[in-house]
Amino acid sequence: MKYEEKKFSIGKLEGISEKTITEHLKLYSGYVKHTNLILEKAGDLIKNPDTQYAGAEMQRRFSFEFNGMRNHEIYFSLLENSNKDGIKEGKLFSEISKTWGSFDAWLENFKKIAVSVRGPGWVMLYRDKTTGNLLNSWVDEQHLGILNGLDVIVALDMWEHSYYLDYTPAEKGKYVEAFFANLNWTVAEKLFENA
Ligand SMILES: [Fe+2]
Repeated sequence: MKYEEKKFSIGKLEGISEKTITEHLKLYSGYVKHTNLILEKAGDLIKNPDTQYAGAEMQRRFSFEFNGMRNHEIYFSLLENSNKDGIKEGKLFSEISKTWGSFDAWLENFKKIAVSVRGPGWVMLYRDKTTGNLLNSWVDEQHLGILNGLDVIVALDMWEHSYYLDYTPAEKGKYVEAFFANLNWTVAEKLFENA
């Protein structure tokens, strides 16, 4: 079993430089590589008493690497074919508006989570398919705090590597604005429909 690195065609973005995207894609590549490395090696290492500890530690890191791969695939797909029109109607728009009272109330909460939770991680908009509920939530690193069994609709990378070439940590709100200025809502709507 081997995971393939996906290719993304991300054009010029507003407020996020090409250099940032190029460097960030290299980090994504590392998550795919390490997901495959653990799948290939951990099973053998854990069988042998001499290498069991190393195998066990690799196994512990699997969800970090795997979710790092998946989180970035959603993030970069949301930035492909950047859509400056935003979202003004449709099923996802209505569901968000219904849940939070208005679309802007959702956006405000999502952005506040992004700028106020400290440390590396992600802000996610999820759909809970058992109830249909939408939820905003924070994920530490790539994997800690992922809500079990929910589908990700919007994934915003808040690791400093996402913006440090363009903004200082104190300016991360500008990066969040840039993410939403470029977000292709058609991709999010597809994720919502398939959730
Ligand atoms: Fe990242």
